[in-house]
Amino acid sequence: MLTSIKSVGSHVPSGILTNADLERMVDTSDTWIRERTGIVERRIAAVDETATDLAADAARDALLAGGFAPEDTDLIVCSTSTPDSMFPSVASRVQERLGAHGPAFDVQAACTGFLYAISVADRFVSAGEAKQAIVIGTETLTKIVNFKDRGTCVVFGDGAGAVVLGPASDGAGIKACVLGSDGSGGDLIYVAPGADGPEGPGRPEIRMDGRRVFRFATEILAQATLQVLENANLRLEDVRMIIPHQANARIIEAAAKRLGVNGDVMVNNIANYGNTSTASIPLALKEAVGAQRLKRGDHVVLVGFGAGLTWGACVLQWEGAPVRVAA
Ligand code: UT7
Repeated sequence: MLTSIKSVGSHVPSGILTNADLERMVDTSDTWIRERTGIVERRIAAVDETATDLAADAARDALLAGGFAPEDTDLIVCSTSTPDSMFPSVASRVQERLGAHGPAFDVQAACTGFLYAISVADRFVSAGEAKQAIVIGTETLTKIVNFKDRGTCVVFGDGAGAVVLGPASDGAGIKACVLGSDGSGGDLIYVAPGADGPEGPGRPEIRMDGRRVFRFATEILAQATLQVLENANLRLEDVRMIIPHQANARIIEAAAKRLGVNGDVMVNNIANYGNTSTASIPLALKEAVGAQRLKRGDHVVLVGFGAGLTWGACVLQWEGAPVRVAA
């Protein structure tokens, strides 16, 4: 039995951090950020707003879009690098808020996490062990960004996206997933623990060798896309849409060029959200569906990369899942 995306939802914080705001914090400019990343603004969670808050609202949005009862949810897999605490998992916290049942757990594969989570949940649904699964990507990255480091603070933002998965109908659904990791690249992007100082415990912060991650990203997006299509016995020409992890508009453009596909195929919504790590693919998927860019029967590739270094891709045939456009 194949697994299908039954509905899509999202939730982003109401706080907005613009390039002009960042100009006042570090030596940068709106022009540099737009030209080098494509980002215009990103969302920023309030001090007391957690990854669980965003995740639960994104999950509710997806459930409402599809008309699903929260209590019928029998699996929650959540991907995050910024959980409220080491445990309980964000998935278990969301389960309690929804009144759901069954297994609930987090996966951690940084920006690739949503693809790892989809791939895991797919196995439960395909095996008949879950009928209404929710997969969530949620991040409050601005809580682990050093707002004195211009190489990272202009890039990252907060948000959450979610999909409801269930048994596919009409032969649509997830056709193949590929996942990968090369631990030798672990020092290219990581979270450094905060050092204790006179003012108390330090804040953990993201460290990144942007240039080297950039090079890896442009290659792996194209490679993983071609690999997953080969595994599904599909050709690039069969694909209506590719939704890449939204890390940098130039990475997306370079990957499109490598693959030889035009801008219409490659989704790019980084301008409004920045890099929301594991939330970026479901956020972009929801926008694409809301804009009616996908129709029933279309093939779509979800593809991403991130710390680890990790990467992943899924190809699926779209069953026509709804979104709530106003949400
Ligand atoms: O999602 C997880 C994975 N993360 C990524 O995919 C990130 C991938 N990397 C990137 O998106 C880009 O490397 C960045 C956006 C992080 C940086 O852009 P870049 O074009 O690779 O810049 P760079 O690091 O090569 O730096 C070029 C110049 C440097 O100045 P010099 O040495 O040429 O004088 C930097 O100091 O730009 C400078 N620079 C900045 N200038 C203004 C770096 N950050 C900034 C900034 N504002 N925010």
